[in-house]
Amino acid sequence: MQKAPRKMTVPAFCEAAASGKKMTMLTAYDYLWAGILDEAGVDSILVGDSLAMVVQGKSTTLPVTLDHMIYHGEMVTRAVRRALVVVDMPFMSYQVSPKQAVRNAGRIIKETGADAVKLEGGSIQSETIRGIRRADIPVMAHIGMRPQAVRQLGGMGKVQRDEQQLLDDARAAEDAGAFGIILELIPEDIAGKITEALSIPTIGIGAGNRCSGQVLVGPDMLGLNPSFKPKFLKEFGQLRTHAASAVQQYIREVENTQFPGPEHSHS
Ligand code: KIV
Repeated sequence: MQKAPRKMTVPAFCEAAASGKKMTMLTAYDYLWAGILDEAGVDSILVGDSLAMVVQGKSTTLPVTLDHMIYHGEMVTRAVRRALVVVDMPFMSYQVSPKQAVRNAGRIIKETGADAVKLEGGSIQSETIRGIRRADIPVMAHIGMRPQAVRQLGGMGKVQRDEQQLLDDARAAEDAGAFGIILELIPEDIAGKITEALSIPTIGIGAGNRCSGQVLVGPDMLGLNPSFKPKFLKEFGQLRTHAASAVQQYIREVENTQFPGPEHSHS
């Protein structure tokens, strides 16, 4: 019988990062892909609110609801045996008050079975992070380019360069009890300084090579999303091209009566 893999818990994730292992995180939004990523050995799966853009085809992450996140989060946790599963708290599910945030973080954990939640913000969310932690819910922070602040920032892809603010945000998140922190679109040297200043893991996206680990949007790094090619993205596969050519072959073979052949037919 195959041995069940050792589950990546929040303490195990932090210990592995502290030992110097570079941590890997990818986003997934459903049972099928979460199973593939988990079997491949990724340390953490993020059910990101990028769901709005990647799965729902919206132009920002703002419209995705708490119920959508729970629906997708539950599918992901059902597939995962090892990876740490983190579910994003969507826009307006935690900004109103720490009380609202605790209630909604609790719904995510209860209804999806995820290991942790993530929210955007450092200093401005420190009371909220503290409240969620007081409820014994592990919480990850997300600073730098915050997609939920798109209206305030005036666009999505802007590199954030205010070193003092970023350091203050990172320290505030750690002091409030965050177990980890996403650094999005931050110059490599600032991300490096933040990583050195903190004792919790930093997971970078567009933040260079000096973070404790890296996160990418799963469908983007697999080459499934041809319209999104930021500088930080490496496509490790070309799955859209492979999928399209398989579908084209299927169409050809049905049209010329090559499929189904005798091996796919019942006598
Ligand atoms: O929603 C998301 O996918 C994210 C990652 C880009 C970090 O927050």
